[in-house]
Amino acid sequence: MTVASGHADRPDAASRAGDAHPDYAALFARRVAEAGPPLMRAGAGGAAGVIPLTYGFPDPGSFPVADLIEASRAVLAGNAANALQYGPIAGPVSMLNLLVAKLAGEGISVTHDNLVVTSGGSQGIDLVTHLVINPGDTMLVEAPTFIGALQTFRNAEANLLEVPIDEHGLDVVALENVLLKARADGVRPKLLYTIPTFHNPAGVTLAAERRPRVIELAREYGFLILEDDAYSELRFAGEPLPSLYSLDPEGCVIQVRTFSKILAAGLRLGYLVTPAPLLSRLLQLKVDVGTSPFGNHVAATYAADAASLTGRLDTHILELRAIYRERRDAMLGALTEYAPDGVTWTVPEGGFFTWLTLPEGMDAAKIGPAAQAAGVSFIPGVSYFAGGGGARNLRLAFSYLPPDQLVEGVRRLMSVVSGGG
Ligand SMILES: Cc1ncc(COP(=O)(O)O)c(C=O)c1O
Repeated sequence: MTVASGHADRPDAASRAGDAHPDYAALFARRVAEAGPPLMRAGAGGAAGVIPLTYGFPDPGSFPVADLIEASRAVLAGNAANALQYGPIAGPVSMLNLLVAKLAGEGISVTHDNLVVTSGGSQGIDLVTHLVINPGDTMLVEAPTFIGALQTFRNAEANLLEVPIDEHGLDVVALENVLLKARADGVRPKLLYTIPTFHNPAGVTLAAERRPRVIELAREYGFLILEDDAYSELRFAGEPLPSLYSLDPEGCVIQVRTFSKILAAGLRLGYLVTPAPLLSRLLQLKVDVGTSPFGNHVAATYAADAASLTGRLDTHILELRAIYRERRDAMLGALTEYAPDGVTWTVPEGGFFTWLTLPEGMDAAKIGPAAQAAGVSFIPGVSYFAGGGGARNLRLAFSYLPPDQLVEGVRRLMSVVSGGG
C-alpha cells in the first residue's frame, strides 16, 4: 500500500492525491478524532484588497533587522560552537542571565531555577497544561480567552469551566461561584488560565484590587494559576500593575511570557517563570533538546548594550509602546467617528486588541461575508469561547497595520454594521 505523505504545498501532492492511503480516522488518537476542526487562528483575511483587522501580529516594520543582523554575525563569529550545537533544555546561560536581569528590572527576583526558555509562549502554555492536566481533568478558563490556549487545552482533553470577564478583567465573584459549584459537584479544578494584563481578545486589564483575590482563591481551592503575561511590557497608558506572579512568588502562580511581541515573533522565544519546585518536572516534559540555541544567543546578544544586559531591548520596547499607542488611537478614533449607536468597545491601555460589542440582535459571524465583500476582515467573538457565546462580539487587532489602514478598515466595517450587516 502506498502511504501518501505529500503535503498540500508540495509539488508532488497532486500526483499522489488519488493514491490509496490508510484509514487515518481509525488511527487518530481520541484527542484528535473528537476535537472537531482546528480553531480559527489569526491567519484569516489575507485576500487581495481586504484589510485584515484579524492579525494579532506585531508591526513588521518594528523588527530591529539591522541590529539582529549585527547580533547574528557576532554570535556566529564568536560563539558558533554553542549557538549551533544542541543546547541546555532550560535555555543557555546567556539567555537565563538576561531574563534574571529583565525580571529584576520589574522588581521580580528570580534565579535560573525559576526559568524555562520555550518555543514561544505557546510551548510554555502546552508544558504547564501537560504538567497538571490528565484527560478529563477540570480547569478554569476566561470567557473569552486566547484561541491558541483553547486549542492546547482541547488537545490535552481538559474539561473546561468558563469564568466571565468584564471591563475590569476576570470576574472574581463569578470565579468563586464557579469554584463553589464545582466543589458541590465533587469536582476539583486543577488550573486557572488567565490573561490579566491587556487581554487577548478583550483588551481589558485585571483591576489591582481583584489580583490578590485570585491568589487567595487559588490557595483556598488548591489550584495552580497559569498567568499569561504576553503583553504587559507594551503598556502605553495608565500605571503598571503587579503581576500575579509578583504577588505570589514561589507559590501557586506560573507565568508564561514571550519575546514575540517585544522583539520578533519569528524567533519563537518565550519563557516560563515558575516556582522552583516545579522546574525539574517542566524540564522532564520539554523533550526538544533546547529551544533554538542560535535564536537564544542572538536575542541575548541583541538585548545587551554597554550599560546593561537588557539596555537595547528596553529602548526598543519604549519605541514599540509609541508605535502601538498611535495605532490604538487611530483605531479608537475611527470607531468614535464611524460606529453607529449601539456599538461599544473596550479601551486598552496596552497590547494589541480592542473588543467590540455590536447592537442587540446583530451576529458578528453573520456579518463576516458582507465585511469581506466590503474589504475588511475580523475574527468573530464566538471563536474565543470554550462553550459558545460572544455572538455580538468581535476582536479587532490594531497591532499589524499602519494607522491609515486601520482607519479605512474600521470605516468599511462600520459601514457594514450601520447597514445592519
Ligand atoms: C495571550 C497570548 N498568549 C500567548 C501567545 C503566544 O505567542 P508566542 O507563542 O508567539 O509567544 C499569544 C500570541 O498571540 C497571545 O496572544
